[in-house]
Amino acid sequence: MASSGILVVGGGLAGLRAAIACHDQGASVRVLTKVYAIRSHSGAAQGGVNAALRNHPEGADDSPERHAFDTIKGSDYLADQDAVQTMTHEAPLRIRELEAWGCPFSRFEDGRIAQRPFGGAGFPRTCYATDRTGHVMLHTLYEQCVKRGIEFVNEWQLLALARTPERVVGAVALSRLTGALRALPADAVILCTGGYGRIYGRSTNAIINTGSGMGIAYRSGVPLEDMEFVQFHPTSLVGTNLLMTEGCRGEGGYLRNKRGDRFMYDYVGMERPELAPRDIVARAIEHEITEGRGFDGGYVHLDLTHLGEEQIKSRLPGIRELCLQFAGIDPIKQPIPIQPGQHYSMGGIDVDPDCSCPYLPGLYAAGEAACISVHGANRLGGNSLLETIVFGKIAGDSAVEYCAGLGHDPSALRALTDELDWQGRRVDNMLSASGEQNAGRIRLHLKQIMIEKVGVFRDEPALKEALLGIRVLRSRFNDIRLTYRGLKYNLDLCRALELEHKLELAETIALGALHRAESRGGHHRVDYPERDDDQWLRHTLAWREEDGSARLDSKPVTITRYQPEARTY
Ligand code: FUM
Repeated sequence: MASSGILVVGGGLAGLRAAIACHDQGASVRVLTKVYAIRSHSGAAQGGVNAALRNHPEGADDSPERHAFDTIKGSDYLADQDAVQTMTHEAPLRIRELEAWGCPFSRFEDGRIAQRPFGGAGFPRTCYATDRTGHVMLHTLYEQCVKRGIEFVNEWQLLALARTPERVVGAVALSRLTGALRALPADAVILCTGGYGRIYGRSTNAIINTGSGMGIAYRSGVPLEDMEFVQFHPTSLVGTNLLMTEGCRGEGGYLRNKRGDRFMYDYVGMERPELAPRDIVARAIEHEITEGRGFDGGYVHLDLTHLGEEQIKSRLPGIRELCLQFAGIDPIKQPIPIQPGQHYSMGGIDVDPDCSCPYLPGLYAAGEAACISVHGANRLGGNSLLETIVFGKIAGDSAVEYCAGLGHDPSALRALTDELDWQGRRVDNMLSASGEQNAGRIRLHLKQIMIEKVGVFRDEPALKEALLGIRVLRSRFNDIRLTYRGLKYNLDLCRALELEHKLELAETIALGALHRAESRGGHHRVDYPERDDDQWLRHTLAWREEDGSARLDSKPVTITRYQPEARTY
C-alpha cells in the first residue's frame, strides 16, 4: 500500500462512519472538517432513520425488500435498484451497530428500539431518538472516532482536490483560523461534505451547507448526477424555515388550510394522507396557498394540538422548544405555521454503489454530497440518515481496498505542489480584488432566483430566466471586492470561495430542470405535468466545460426487480 493514507472530508455522519471503517481496517485516516465535527449539519436531523426492524406490531411483516420497494416507488423509479437494495438490507445491521455503541434511541416498553411511521411506508419503520435522532447518532459516532484516536483537522476548508491525469493524490485546504494553505497528500479522498441547501432561499439547511464538495469534484472533471432533483420538505417553520420534522405527522399531526380542513384528503387516497411522500405533500401545500386557501404570508398549519401535552413533550420536545424560541408558539396549544422549504439534494457526485467515482480513481463520496443513486427523484424521510451510515462504511471499506493495490506515484508530489500554488494565487487574487460587486448581495440574489424560479413548481420561461440570472451573477462574481482582507477567520473570504461553487452548482440544477421535460418526484414541470418513462427514465449527468458552463449528458437507471409503475397513493 502507498503511504499517504486516506483523507475523509466532512465531519458529519457519513464522514465519521467512513473514517471508522478506514481505521478498523488498519488504514491511516484523518478527517478534514470546516467546522468541529459535532457541529455538522447531520446533528440537525430530527425525525429518524429507517430500518426494517419489525419492532412495532404494525410493521410485523416489514422486510428489507419491502423497504427497498417503498424507496424505489418513492423515488419515482429513478433510483438505482441495486444500490437501494444494498442500503435497505444493510440497514438493520448498521442500526444494531449504533445501538451496541450506545446510541440512545427511544425505546418501546419492552426495551426494543422504538419506531414511528414516516412517509412512503405508512407504518412504523423509522427508528428515532425523540426528535433529535441526528444529534445522538453524530455524538455516538464521534465518540467512536475519539476512542480510536482518529485524527481531526478541524476548521480547515477544502479548496480543491489534487490529481494527476490518472488519479487523486490529495487535497488543498485553507485554515479558517489563520488563513494558511496546506497540501494534504492522500492515496484516496472520501468526500462527505453534505448538500448545497444554502443555494436556495427558504432552506432548512445550516449555513455551512454550500455544496462545496460537489463543486470541487465537478471542477476536478467529475460529473454531477441528477442535480435537477431538489427536495422541498413540506413543513418548515415560517420565518426561519427551521425543520419541523416529518415525525410531527408520524406522531399523528394534521395539515390544515385556513378553513381548518385537512386538505391532504383532497390530494391522496390514503388513510393517513399527511404521510404521503414529501414531493406530493409539498406540492399540495403550495397548491393550497396559490389557490387562496393558505394564510396571508404564504403558509398553512401543522396542527399537533390534539396529540396532547404528554405526547408532545415526550416525543417532540425539540420541536416544541424551536417553536417557543423562534416563533413564540406553543404547539401544545397552537397550530404551527409552516411552508415547504428546500431540504435535501437528491443529486450529487456521480459514484457507483461501492461509493467509488468511476471517472477519477481514488475519489469516493458518501452521504448527501453523493448521488449513488438511492433516492432517485424523491427521497423518503428517514433514508438520509440511513444512507450516511450505510454508505459511509462502504466508502471507507472501498477506499481501503483501493489503496491496498496502489503503488508509489512519482508525479503525485508535483501535482500537489501545483495545486497548492494554484489555490494560493486564487486566494491572493480574491483578497486583493478591487471590483465593485459585493459577494453577499450576489449570494442573496442567487437564493432568490433559485427559490422563485427553480422551486416546487417549474416551467420553461421561469427556468430560462433563472439560467440567465445565474449567468449574470457569475459575471458579477468576477468583479467582487471583499469587505475584509485579513487572513484570520476571514469568513468573507471563505464564503466567497464557496459562492464560486454555488453559482456553478445552481447552473447545473437550473439547466437540468430545463432540459428534463417531464415531471418526476421532486421535479415538477407545470408545462410537462406527466412522468415520461420513454424519454426520461434516465439519469442526468452535468459535466463542467473549460469556461465553467455545464454540458448535459445522461446514463441509464439500474433496474433489478421493480419495473416502473404509476405512483398511486
Ligand atoms: O422530517 C425529518 O425529520 C427529516 C428527516 C429526513 O429528512 O430524513
